[in-house]
Amino acid sequence: MIYKAMIFYIETYGCQMNERDSEEIAATLKAEGFTETDSPDKADIIFVNTCSVREKPSQKALSATGRYIKSKRQRNRIVAMCGCFAKQEGERLKERFEGIDLVFGPQQIKDLPSLLKRVIENREQVIDVSDSGYSSSERCEIREGVYSAFVNITKGCNNFCSFCIVPYLRGREFSRSVEDIIEEVKKRVSYGVKEITLLGQNVNSYRDEKSNTDFVGLLERLNEIEGLERIRFTTSHPKDVSDRLIESFSRLKKLCNHIHLPVQSGSNRILNLMNRRYTREDYLRIVEKLRLERKDIAITTDIIVGFPTETDKDFEDTLNLVKEVEYDTAFSFKYSPRPLTKAFRELKDDVPTKVKEERLKVLQELIEDIAQKKNREMVGKRVDVLIEGYSRRVRNQYTGRTGCNRVVNIENGDNILGKVVNVRITEALKHSLKGEIIKGD
Ligand code: SAH
Ligand code: SF4
Ligand code: F3S
Repeated sequence: MIYKAMIFYIETYGCQMNERDSEEIAATLKAEGFTETDSPDKADIIFVNTCSVREKPSQKALSATGRYIKSKRQRNRIVAMCGCFAKQEGERLKERFEGIDLVFGPQQIKDLPSLLKRVIENREQVIDVSDSGYSSSERCEIREGVYSAFVNITKGCNNFCSFCIVPYLRGREFSRSVEDIIEEVKKRVSYGVKEITLLGQNVNSYRDEKSNTDFVGLLERLNEIEGLERIRFTTSHPKDVSDRLIESFSRLKKLCNHIHLPVQSGSNRILNLMNRRYTREDYLRIVEKLRLERKDIAITTDIIVGFPTETDKDFEDTLNLVKEVEYDTAFSFKYSPRPLTKAFRELKDDVPTKVKEERLKVLQELIEDIAQKKNREMVGKRVDVLIEGYSRRVRNQYTGRTGCNRVVNIENGDNILGKVVNVRITEALKHSLKGEIIKGD
């Protein structure tokens, strides 16, 4: 415990995988005797956990790192960069940031204590972004008052969608063992967690060879864990949504009525160029089956506008698909060419920025209109809400989420933190709902 006096701070960009990785980094360092702070000013070691999925988050990672390296002039501290952008740049970061102390990729989290030891004890500049593989066992932080947690099930990705840099940065797909996952979930449940979100770039292709368990098999096992109340997962690739998975939504009681199913585009020509391996018709068929299985299932998605060669007609196809599916909500992005990817290598980024921006605006307005309409339809309904904390705006008002992943602020109730309560929705606001606990239930 020689590092007891050292304080670290982690700044996280990017997706839920990165958030989970930051938790893992924190748990690893705490086990070594370090202390965490939420204020960078107080830290002896600063980690910037970076994302590179689009140009903008990459820029953010660069400027945050630059800022912290500058701060070394005022204060002697260690600055580390990790995550996807760190993996992408590796040794090149030495030239960009002379003062960087440590650079490591997503596959080095397991080696962090030894890497850090070299930095602290030998004052070495350490760069390691190698493909050393993932470990099936993971650490988790056990914190009071946390009722919902992320659990990795797969890492990496084999899909190589033509726009996406993730497979180059996170490596080939790796599934953790069922036993390790179950052990982690049980541990979290014993510390008060009620809801888990299973994470992977493409959870549907989960497979534990040793026990011959696929994704649905894993869900079945998790569904049996006593004390666990809710199971979510993200992300699903439409090409791998099986009928068995669809049936699970009515069969497995703990599975929440929500699926995030990125469509990316409504045009078959663009989907093909994106190497997504499904058609618009395949996608719509899955949506239809999901709704037949579970009428109230919430469906959310990711969409890219302005992929190379996208015409007004292709974009119209996307708008029409959004209208047809009526997503509960959706994330939408302007295409951003990423190094290493097939689209970057082979296709010209030929949709002008202005056109991308216009399309994004039109799409986002449509998504918002539908989301609002769906929110209003919730009024008067009875739903189960997992109470996760207090509302940020109103003091003493509880807040939680429905199975369909909507935020609900609750106006009554005592001692309900961490409980799943039955609530009647009383009002729909722009990005949340209001509700009251149904008495006498
Ligand atoms: N594994 C997940 C998502 C990973 S990235 C999946 O397959 O769905 C999250 C989202 O970022 C993607 O769904 C996509 O919509 C968007 N995205 C990825 N690369 C992008 C790029 N080059 N430009 C714009 N958006 C991109
Ligand atoms: Fe990227 Fe496609 Fe893999 Fe998702 S499935 S991480 S979009 S390559
Ligand atoms: Fe996630 Fe960004 Fe990496 S979206 S997988 S942190 S590139």
